[in-house]
Amino acid sequence: MGFIKDAYTIFRIGARTVSNTYLKSSRPSHVSIAVTNRCNSRCIYCETYLCDFSKELTTQQMISIIDEISRDGSCYITLTGGEPFMRQDIFDIIKHCYKRNLIVNIPTNGLKIHNFNAGQINTIVKCVRNIQLSIDSADTKENDFIRGVDGSLDLAIQGVKRLKDGGFDKIGILTVISRYNYKKLKGLLYLTRDLGLKRIRFQPVGINSNYPSIAPLKDKREVLIRGKQIDELRDTLSEYIRLENRLGLTTNLKFLKTWIGPYFKFIESEKFFMKEVNRCFRCIYPATALFIDSNGRLQPCQFLNNVGSGLKEVVYNWRHNKKLNEIRKSLKKGNFFQECRRCMCTFEFSSTYQPFSKSQPPLLISKVRQKIKDS
Ligand SMILES: C[S@@+](CC[C@H](N)C(=O)[O-])C[C@H]1O[C@@H](n2cnc3c(N)ncnc32)[C@H](O)[C@@H]1O
Ligand code: SF4
Ligand code: SF4
Repeated sequence: MGFIKDAYTIFRIGARTVSNTYLKSSRPSHVSIAVTNRCNSRCIYCETYLCDFSKELTTQQMISIIDEISRDGSCYITLTGGEPFMRQDIFDIIKHCYKRNLIVNIPTNGLKIHNFNAGQINTIVKCVRNIQLSIDSADTKENDFIRGVDGSLDLAIQGVKRLKDGGFDKIGILTVISRYNYKKLKGLLYLTRDLGLKRIRFQPVGINSNYPSIAPLKDKREVLIRGKQIDELRDTLSEYIRLENRLGLTTNLKFLKTWIGPYFKFIESEKFFMKEVNRCFRCIYPATALFIDSNGRLQPCQFLNNVGSGLKEVVYNWRHNKKLNEIRKSLKKGNFFQECRRCMCTFEFSSTYQPFSKSQPPLLISKVRQKIKDS
C-alpha cells in the first residue's frame, strides 16, 4: 500500500511539473507557505528573528488559501517558516491540508516534537507525508553552537524517537554545510543510520537573506568554506559516498560533489554566480511553484522579494501577476537576478528532479533548454 501511495505521489508531482514546464498548464506543482517567521532557534546563518511577526496570517486566512490551492488542483504543500511548530494552530492547518487532499511536507528544527501528545502524533501519522528535520552536527556542542540553542541535538533526537514510537518514520535529515561542520559530516551519516532513518540531504550554507524583505545577517560570510577548505571538503565527500552505500542510506552527496566546489569558490565573487557555476541549469521555480510568505504575500521564490498580496485569488495572482510573469520571462532567457547570484535553489531544484541531471547532465540539460526555447 505504502509503495503504491509513494509511486502515485511521485507520479502526481512529476506530471504536474512536466505539464507546467512543457504544456504551459498553469497550476503550481508545489506550494510553499511560510506559516510563521517566529522561531525557537537562533541558527548562525538565519535571520528569522529579525522579521516582522505582527502580520502573521490567521487560521481562517490560512484555511482559505489552502482551500483555493486545492480547488485549483495543486497537490504538494510545504509548511515552512520560521519554525512551523511555533504556530498554536499548526495541527488544524495540517488536518485541513489533509482534508483537502494535499501532500504535506514539513521542515522543522524538531525542538518541540518530543512534547507532542498522542493526538498530535496521530495527526502527523495520518496527514503528513514527510518531515525534514534539521540537524547540523552529530556533535552536541557543535550542533548547539550552529543552531543557537543548548540541547538542540538531544531534543531533535528525542523528537525522532517520539515520532518513530508513534508510528511515523518518514523522516529525513537536512544538514547545512558550513565551515563549522564540514570536517565532521561523517558523524551525521552514522547518526542517521543509528536513528533508524534512511535519508539525509546536505546543502551548502547560503548567504542570501532567507527573508527578502530584510537584509541578510551582516556576518553570514563568516560561515563560508574558503580556499583549501573547499578541496578538503570535496576529497572527504568521496569517502562519505562510499560510506553512504555501506550504511544503506540515500543522500544527495554524489550530485553535491559535482557543484559544491564551484559553489563555495564563486559565492563571494562579484561575477554573476549562476553563469559561472553552471550555465546549463535553468531556474523553473517561479514558473512551477508558488511561495507565500508569512504575511500572505506572493513571492516568486524563497529569495526574491514579494510581488504583491497573495491572500485572495492566490493562484489567479500567481498566474497573472505582471511582475511575476516578467521574472519568469527573464529566467526563461537565462537571465538571473542579483538575488540568484548566491542561490543554491537551482541545484536543489535540479537535484529534486534527478531525470534532468543524473546521468549525463550537460546533454540532458541542453535538451531541456532546447525544449523550453521551442515552447
Ligand atoms: C528556513 S528553515 C525553516 C524550517 C525550520 N525552522 C528548520 O530549521 O528546519 C529550512 C531549512 O533551511 C535551512 N537554512 C536556513 N538558513 C540557511 C542558509 N542561510 N543556508 C542554507 N540553509 C539554510 C535550515 O537549516 C533548514 O534546514
Ligand atoms: S534555520 Fe529554522 S530553526 Fe534555524 S533560526 Fe532559521 S527558521 Fe529557526
Ligand atoms: S535561482 Fe533565483 S529565481 Fe531561482 S529560486 Fe534561486 S533566487 Fe529564486
